[in-house]
Amino acid sequence: MTETDFILKDFSLENITNGSITWKTPSNIALVKYWGKQEPQIPENASISFTLDTCFTLTTLEYRKLNAERSHNFEIYFEGGKKEDFKPKIVTFFKRIEQYVPFLTEFEFVIKSENSFPHSSGIASSASGMGALALCVMSLEKAINPTMTNEYFNKKVSFLARLGSGSACRSIEGPLIVWGNHPEIEGSSDLFGVKFPYKIHDNFKNYQDTILLVDEGEKQVSSTVGHQLMYNHPFAKQRFQQANSNISKISKVLQSGDLPAFIAIVESEALSLHAMMMTSNPYFILMKPNTLKIINEIWDFRVQTNSNICFTLDAGANVHVLFPEKEKETVNNFIKSNLIQFCQENHYICDSIGNGAISIFNSAE
Ligand code: PMV
Repeated sequence: MTETDFILKDFSLENITNGSITWKTPSNIALVKYWGKQEPQIPENASISFTLDTCFTLTTLEYRKLNAERSHNFEIYFEGGKKEDFKPKIVTFFKRIEQYVPFLTEFEFVIKSENSFPHSSGIASSASGMGALALCVMSLEKAINPTMTNEYFNKKVSFLARLGSGSACRSIEGPLIVWGNHPEIEGSSDLFGVKFPYKIHDNFKNYQDTILLVDEGEKQVSSTVGHQLMYNHPFAKQRFQQANSNISKISKVLQSGDLPAFIAIVESEALSLHAMMMTSNPYFILMKPNTLKIINEIWDFRVQTNSNICFTLDAGANVHVLFPEKEKETVNNFIKSNLIQFCQENHYICDSIGNGAISIFNSAE
């Protein structure tokens, strides 16, 4: 599919007046990371992520048809209060997607959003937030064009979400999503995320992700700036090759159930992402001393107990602790006794792999 397949043409708004749509959309955590992109939000390498479950954004889009066209007519409320500083990002998103959803200018909107995870916990909310908004916009398109297939709906949601935040295109479905064209992943595309197309080994069913909140607060460097720093990065070319080669490896591992190989790829990916940050110009460090203490504790525990526990990192100091469901009890005990002390105010979130976004309300259905 190409970009032009996502342009809505010849539509009529005759039967549409006003209504309300609500979607619950999860966050996701990349196993092979995306860091570096080209315009318009085209990734430099393929990435793969676990869709999460407990960490989600709940977004309601109230729409009312206007008598005359007007651009970007919306109000945004976040967790009950008007949020003016969220507006520029949404205006940019609306401008980017307008050519694909031209009906947007014929409505006024009220967007109401809330997160399940604590506000400014350092967990990236752009993936779940932009994913949820893209779903609401597409439900409105479905009300206008009810004959659309589910497959097209999901692809176009992911396509639109990508234009809001790259990783958001991996938050629509689950449990494992690949984004970025890769010769060994059938159906993969730079334009949208696709479900991992091969059978996943039972070892990865209901995989656990306990998120240790080491540093709650705004990110010191935005991901927009971080991606840009890959343009003149001395190791960019090797990094993109490494990530694509890790996609080939992890694809086999996810099918064979080889947990030691999974751990080696996932931890190397997390450290490579941070190594890119530490070797860019300007350079920066997002890990905190407690991030390293947690990593060392995890490594010690793995050696001592033969556990399959491992870690990954996002663009921040928080640690995602990944482990198979059958180790839930022992690993959770270890987390409580040894790791929680390194979290800000002892905050952590127990999450696991999820199956993607859920429609909560749609007045047009
Ligand atoms: O979605 P963005 O543009 O905010 O980029 C986020 C990239 C990482 O979260 C650091 C890695 C990834 O693949 O999710």
